[in-house]
Amino acid sequence: MSDKLIIFDTTLRDGEQSPGASMTRDEKVRIAKALERLRVDVIEAGFPAASPGDFESVRAVARAIKESIVCGLARALDKDIDSAGEALGEANRARIHTFIATSPIHMQRKLRMEPDQVIEYAVRAVKRARQYTDDVEFSPEDAGRSEEDFLCRILEAVIEAGATTVNIPDTVGYSVPEQFGATIRRLRERIPNSDKAIFSVHCHNDLGLAVANSLSAVLNGARQVECTINGLGERAGNAALEEIVMAVKTRRDVFPCRVDIDTREIVACSKLVSNITGFPVQPNKAIVGANAFAHESGIHQDGVLKSRETYEIMRAEDVGWTANRMVLGKHSGRNAFRTRMQELGIEFGSEEELNEAFQRFKELADKKHDIFDEDLQALITEAGVEA
Ligand code: KIV
Ligand code: ZN
Repeated sequence: MSDKLIIFDTTLRDGEQSPGASMTRDEKVRIAKALERLRVDVIEAGFPAASPGDFESVRAVARAIKESIVCGLARALDKDIDSAGEALGEANRARIHTFIATSPIHMQRKLRMEPDQVIEYAVRAVKRARQYTDDVEFSPEDAGRSEEDFLCRILEAVIEAGATTVNIPDTVGYSVPEQFGATIRRLRERIPNSDKAIFSVHCHNDLGLAVANSLSAVLNGARQVECTINGLGERAGNAALEEIVMAVKTRRDVFPCRVDIDTREIVACSKLVSNITGFPVQPNKAIVGANAFAHESGIHQDGVLKSRETYEIMRAEDVGWTANRMVLGKHSGRNAFRTRMQELGIEFGSEEELNEAFQRFKELADKKHDIFDEDLQALITEAGVEA
C-alpha cells in the first residue's frame, strides 16, 4: 500500500455549504491559489450543476490551478456529470466526484429507489464520468449509516466500472473512531477488487469526532482524507485539514504515511478563509487558533523559556506563525515577566526592583484581563525605572 496520504480539500465545496459561507468566483480562485501554495493534492472546487455561479467558479479554478488536481462534484445523473466534465474542461488535471446515497433511510425516504437501482445509477455515472477523465471518484452518501454488505456490492461495482477512488462519507457525523476504522478495514478486505482503488474518507463533525474518525480510517488503510480549512462545512463542519496534517506529521511513529503539504502556509490559508467567509477562528482552535502556541501560566512560561519542548509538541513557525507567544496575565511568573521586559528594553537595577515591579504587575493582572506592552511601560514609568 502507498505511504502517501492524499489531502483532498473541500473548503470550496462542502465548506461553502456552511450556512453563511458562500464565496464569489474571485474569492474561490484566491482560496484555490492559497490551497495550491499549501500543496494540497486535490481541490474540490464546487458542484457545477448546482448553479451557473458554481459552474463558473469551478471553471475559473480549473483555469487558474496548475499543480493540484481540480475536482467537481456531481450527483449520479447524466446532466450533473456533463456539467462537471464541461466546467473542468480546461483543467490541467481534472477529477469528477460522483455520489449517490446508500443508507436505507436515504434510499427509501429521499431517493425513493430500490438498492439495485441505486447501483445501476452509480455504475452508469462512473462510466459516463470516465468519458471526461481517467480520474473518477465515487461516494456512497451516508455510508456511515449504510449496510456494510450493500456498501461492498456497490463499491465493487463502481471500481469495476472505472472508479479510481472510493470515498466513504460519514455524512451526518454518526460514526465513532474504533468502529469507523474497523469498517474501512473490513471494506478493504471484503471487496475483491479493492486494490484497484484508493480508499478515501470524508467525515463530518456532528459529534466532534471528524478528525478522530478520519485518523482512525488512516490507521486502517484509507489513503485519502477529505477535509476543509478551519473545519468549515455543513452543520458542525468537516474534518479540519490543519489538524489531520499536523497529527500525521507530528506522530510519524503512529501513522504509516506521509503528507506532502507545505505546513508553513497553514496559518495564511486559515486567515484567508476566515477573512473571506467572515467565520472567525476560535482562539483555542488547534494549530490555527490565536492561543494555539500561547503560554500564560508561570509554570508553562518558565518551562518554555528553558526549553520549548516542555510544553510545545510542534513549532509555531512550522505552521506559519511568526513565533510562539508569551501572554502576560495573572498566572504568569517572574521569569516570563523579566524576559518580556528585557524584550521591551527594560533592565532592572536589582532583584528588589524586579520584585517590586512584578508585584505591581500581579496587582494589575488581577484587575485587567489583557495586559498589553503599553500597560507594562506605564507600570515602569510609574515606578521610575530607567528604560
Ligand atoms: O457529506 C457527504 O456525504 C458529502 C458527499 C457529497 C461526499 O459531502
Ligand atoms: Zn460532506
